[in-house]
Amino acid sequence: MGKEKNGEIIIDVQNVGLTYETNSRPITAIENINLQIKNGEFLCVLGPSGCGKSTLLKIIAGYLKPTIGSCLMQGEPIIGPDWHRGVVFQSPTLYPWMSVRKNVEYGPRMRGIPKNDIKQIGNHFLQQVDLIDYSDKATFELSGGMKQRVALARALANEPEVILMDEPFGALDALTRVNMQTLIRNIWQKTNSTIFMITHDIDEALSLGTRVIVMSKNPGKILKEFSLSFTYSAIGSKNGRVKVGEEYMRIKEEILDIISQ
Ligand SMILES: Nc1ncnc2c1ncn2[C@@H]1O[C@H](COP(=O)(O)OP(=O)(O)OP(=O)(O)O)[C@@H](O)[C@H]1O
Ligand SMILES: [Mg+2]
Repeated sequence: MGKEKNGEIIIDVQNVGLTYETNSRPITAIENINLQIKNGEFLCVLGPSGCGKSTLLKIIAGYLKPTIGSCLMQGEPIIGPDWHRGVVFQSPTLYPWMSVRKNVEYGPRMRGIPKNDIKQIGNHFLQQVDLIDYSDKATFELSGGMKQRVALARALANEPEVILMDEPFGALDALTRVNMQTLIRNIWQKTNSTIFMITHDIDEALSLGTRVIVMSKNPGKILKEFSLSFTYSAIGSKNGRVKVGEEYMRIKEEILDIISQ
């Protein structure tokens, strides 16, 4: 698949609903979701616990099939997981018997990329997440933030068109979290990738996203969306943080009101 142009629709979620069949009663997790993800955007998803954020991500990833509606990538139906869509979860699922480097190189190796190229890809992405000096360590020797960086590098190593992240920094302390946000912002900008990221942190969404969607629950729906540009104010700023002004605060208040309703 070729790289699309910025602004073109890369993921098209059309009228998607999903109902889980459980032993007691069916649970409609999401209903009537329409969402067009555009190439190059950084889309953040906010919403109360249980509103179906992870369900939506798993449908886009191809792990779950919607009960109703359809989900397309570059015009083709999504029928299963695919390395064109890299996924990063809250608790990184690394292979504990492999070194940091082997974890990162796993995808390209599985895809049959020539050995020399794999090594180069490994170096490149280990450098991007600042773990080149830890290449030969076992993953259990790493801190939580480092593990999450390995997971990120492993997803990036496939050079996916779309990166899907489910609360990737949720388990990290505040400082590590801010560093990870700067890292992902820089990678997004440098690689011109498309990111779909779930977070429960409004500031994280506002300071990273070029668009934020806010969902409500029972059943999960998209209530509101905001187009944003705060993330650009962090790029190249001295402290790496976004400029928080009146507009930022107004949107933050509005989202807080929606979510606490
Ligand atoms: N495998 C499953 N079987 C049955 N019900 C499920 C399953 N997974 C999720 N659900 C239900 O679907 C709804 C949406 O869950 P989901 O995990 O998508 O929410 P979420 O927005 O990601 O929540 P959180 O912010 O807590 O991660 C919830 O009511 C949940 O209980
Ligand atoms: Mg979730």
